[in-house]
Amino acid sequence: MNRDTEIRLIKEAVELHDRGETQYQEDAKTHSTERYVSEEVFAKEKSKLFLELPTVIGAAGEVPNIGDYHSVEWVGGLPLLIVRDNDNRVRVFANVCRHRNARLVETGSSGCRRRFSCPYHAWTYNTDGKLIAAPEFETGFSNLDKDKLNLIEFDSQVINGIIFIHPNPDKKLPENFVADEIASGFDYLNMQNQRIYKRRDYILNANWKILAEGGIEAYHFNVAHKNTLAPFFLGNLSTWESWGPYMRMILPKRPILGAKELPEAEWDMRKMANIIYNLPPGLMILAQPDNVSLIKMVPLSAGKTRIEEVLLVDPPKDGSDNWSEDELKMHETNFNLVNKILTEDWELGETIQANMQSGIVDSIHFGRFESALTEFDRQYSHYMGVEAADV
Ligand code: FES
Ligand SMILES: [Fe+2]
Repeated sequence: MNRDTEIRLIKEAVELHDRGETQYQEDAKTHSTERYVSEEVFAKEKSKLFLELPTVIGAAGEVPNIGDYHSVEWVGGLPLLIVRDNDNRVRVFANVCRHRNARLVETGSSGCRRRFSCPYHAWTYNTDGKLIAAPEFETGFSNLDKDKLNLIEFDSQVINGIIFIHPNPDKKLPENFVADEIASGFDYLNMQNQRIYKRRDYILNANWKILAEGGIEAYHFNVAHKNTLAPFFLGNLSTWESWGPYMRMILPKRPILGAKELPEAEWDMRKMANIIYNLPPGLMILAQPDNVSLIKMVPLSAGKTRIEEVLLVDPPKDGSDNWSEDELKMHETNFNLVNKILTEDWELGETIQANMQSGIVDSIHFGRFESALTEFDRQYSHYMGVEAADV
């Protein structure tokens, strides 16, 4: 997002507010609840989306130093090991020992190592995924080629601090699959220099799309978030643009109304709005003034999703390795605040899922002002190879 875009988006939001409008689509759309509850649909999502499309698995700032690693599980239990190698490159391997499939590091764990030694028989790999030691290898495995027993690696790319992989290790990421405007948005958020403050994970009883859809409309702010977000935002006002499956959403806050009284040089989107990047499948980025939250969503079944929340923040202001007490206090407050707001959404999401599973009502509606939901559906339908709702 360059300066011209930032100015344009601020102007657009203020004009919409002045007219009492938001970004509309032509008509309300009606959708079947089947896509949220059917395991058959989930199986199709698995083959068409989760294990087929470029997937965002996190930020380079989660493994900032050489040897840093973090392990995550993607759909279908795909065990991933994200490592920063000796050449300072982020690499993504299968967290699976080539001897007899043991897990090299515990799922969800992170730390810093130069060697990954399997807890079963100590086959040992370096940060390049190369098998560098295996006890009594020459005696026990002399007919095997050691060079063919390195860790399985996924094709990955770090785009301005955000890590994408192809979840099929036999396939490459396509060329230019991230539009310049999305990549420059990561740069605008200074994603390359963000550092992990903390993460937490938990499982929700809700379909991943219900959770994602809650993040791309502001219609619910004054109701579901009346005591948390509502006082700071402008009700049902939001704008969005999309590039392929990826969407940038602007959620203007009250200070944006002061833009008219300020010289343009002082307009600052980070202070005037929250910015959301919806990067399905896998990640939603929520940028607030002092931090960036990653909301990772790992679909486990039609009705279950694992969430990993990660708070990323600027490195310590004094240039040292440790944040000051004041910085830590602010980060902790923000970490808990994000969780509180998300919990308001998640509780609704779980009751929606339960209601959908009861089957008593078999359709839902996206209003004209919930236009980002319709775009999300359009993209989803495109990749799933089904007709978008047009009712
Ligand atoms: S399974 Fe890893 S060393 Fe045996
Ligand atoms: Fe919400």
